[in-house]
Amino acid sequence: MPITIGDRKLVDVKVVAQIKEPVEKEMELFEKKFHDSMSSKVALLNRITHYIVNRKGKQMRPMFIFLVAKLLNDGEVNERTYRGAAIIELTHTASLVHDDIVDESSKRRGFFSINALWKNKIAVLVGDYLFAKGLLLPLEHDDFDLLKIFSNAVREMSEGELLQMEKARRLDITEEVYYDVIRQKTATLIAACCSIGACAVKPNTDHVEVFRKFGELIGMAFQIKDDLFDYGEAKIGKPTGIDIKEQKMTLPLIYVLNNCATDERKWLINSIKNHNKNKKRVKEVIHFVKEKGGLSYAEGKMNAFKTEALALLEAYPDSDYKSSLELMVNYVVDRKK
Ligand code: IPE
Ligand code: IPE
Ligand code: MG
Ligand code: MG
Repeated sequence: MPITIGDRKLVDVKVVAQIKEPVEKEMELFEKKFHDSMSSKVALLNRITHYIVNRKGKQMRPMFIFLVAKLLNDGEVNERTYRGAAIIELTHTASLVHDDIVDESSKRRGFFSINALWKNKIAVLVGDYLFAKGLLLPLEHDDFDLLKIFSNAVREMSEGELLQMEKARRLDITEEVYYDVIRQKTATLIAACCSIGACAVKPNTDHVEVFRKFGELIGMAFQIKDDLFDYGEAKIGKPTGIDIKEQKMTLPLIYVLNNCATDERKWLINSIKNHNKNKKRVKEVIHFVKEKGGLSYAEGKMNAFKTEALALLEAYPDSDYKSSLELMVNYVVDRKK
């Protein structure tokens, strides 16, 4: 990725390098293991998984796993930690491949999405393959505790996406239901990843639940941030302004719907129901939501989740791993993509 001085993303690159420092070695080895975990005898599948690993994302989930494990285990990880990281990143990748089909999105990580390049039929099967690989990895090594955490996360993710669709159709989503949706579709996986980080090195201890909660809180902030990106115009490697097009009601819009005049509310509902594919109208809705303070409201909620997550770390002694986790929590809400 070319880095130009003055680019806002340069700040991100520096912060990520700092966060990664105490788990640099583990992340390097992880990448190799992750790549190997995807291999198949089918040439078409290998071509596609190659395409996927060459356009890697931020890899925040494996970083969480290694940082949590090292924090709890005097700087040591084990093979279970590597497997846990591969399971989570496989599942995350599978969920993105499927999500882009569902959202009819043609861009991911700055390039074409799998559905855009190979069409939906192939993308569905590639997602299934990655999920199956994620299931097999812990099974092959009798990691039943990790498998349990992870299978529950997968179930909740599907439920979350379906809950979102059900509510979107009726356009009656409340703030509480929005939190349920994002808890299930996004926060659960980050919660699973932090609890797997703990469980891999300290099974059957209270740390597993503490870090599940920690991950859940970060996951909530993470998805609110993602939903805020959709209201912006910054280049984030995937399309913006598509949530309204897909009738995805997120916090800024929900807040404004509940805090505007009756005629404004009617106009908003009508826009989302009947004009959601009209680019000009969608722009007007975005503008209205900004004007009515929807973005600042969502930022406030996002920061509250962040503060709660940071508070859970206070109980642990200071270390490089703890500092990196703190930086990471801040990065979730300050990141530029
Ligand atoms: C995107 O997750 C999907 C959401 C849960 C919002 P990331 O933003 O972590 O995606 P990559 O892996 O960095 O591309
Ligand atoms: C998160 O929702 C989807 C998953 C949990 C896979 P989004 O649909 O907002 O994610 P992006 O914006 O496409 O990455
Ligand atoms: Mg999407
Ligand atoms: Mg999004």
